[in-house]
Amino acid sequence: MSIQEANSAGFVHGGIVMKMCDEAAGIAAVKHSRCRVLTAAMDRMTFLHPVHIGQLLTCRASVNAAWRTSMEVGVRVEAENPRTGEVLHTSTAYLTMVAIDDEGRPTAVPPLAAESDDEQRRQREAELRRQNRLNEREQIRAGRDGA
Ligand SMILES: CC(C)(COP(=O)(O)OP(=O)(O)OC[C@H]1O[C@@H](n2cnc3c(N)ncnc32)[C@H](O)[C@@H]1OP(=O)(O)O)[C@@H](O)C(=O)NCCC(=O)NCCS
Repeated sequence: MSIQEANSAGFVHGGIVMKMCDEAAGIAAVKHSRCRVLTAAMDRMTFLHPVHIGQLLTCRASVNAAWRTSMEVGVRVEAENPRTGEVLHTSTAYLTMVAIDDEGRPTAVPPLAAESDDEQRRQREAELRRQNRLNEREQIRAGRDGA
């Protein structure tokens, strides 16, 4: 990470890390769906440690779950000090990406075959996040309708 990516505190700006996560998630979603995709939501983004200028940042993205037209992609960000080799897990992000057809309409994605224990755990947790998101939306709607 270079000086152009710094914030006023001298660390890497969080928005730069978010953009990298969005790009990594988009590539993972395209590879799964073989379609153009849009970011529907960045559902969660944690910053566990500041990223320093000079560190090497790696984003690893995986499709955790696939529904009708949307997919949850998880991104793990690690920062490596290239002089010492020390690696720190600095962020985790979860994004909802939607596949679109040539007219820009949401289009069906292939199902995800979660095979390993880790893949099955990620899929379970993605289902939970989706359910919580939908429940929250329903509760907010019901609250507004009742107001
Ligand atoms: C994402 C988008 C295509 C969804 O359009 P829509 O009219 O809501 O379409 P649908 O109701 O058919 O929903 C399509 C899917 O998106 C999901 N979705 C829509 N809004 C969502 C949100 N805010 N959060 C999470 N998922 C969402 C739906 O759950 C559905 O998933 P499913 O088919 O797997 O069940 C539309 O909102 C859009 O174009 N947004 C702008 C995206 C963009 O430009 N991103 C870049 C930002 S600069």
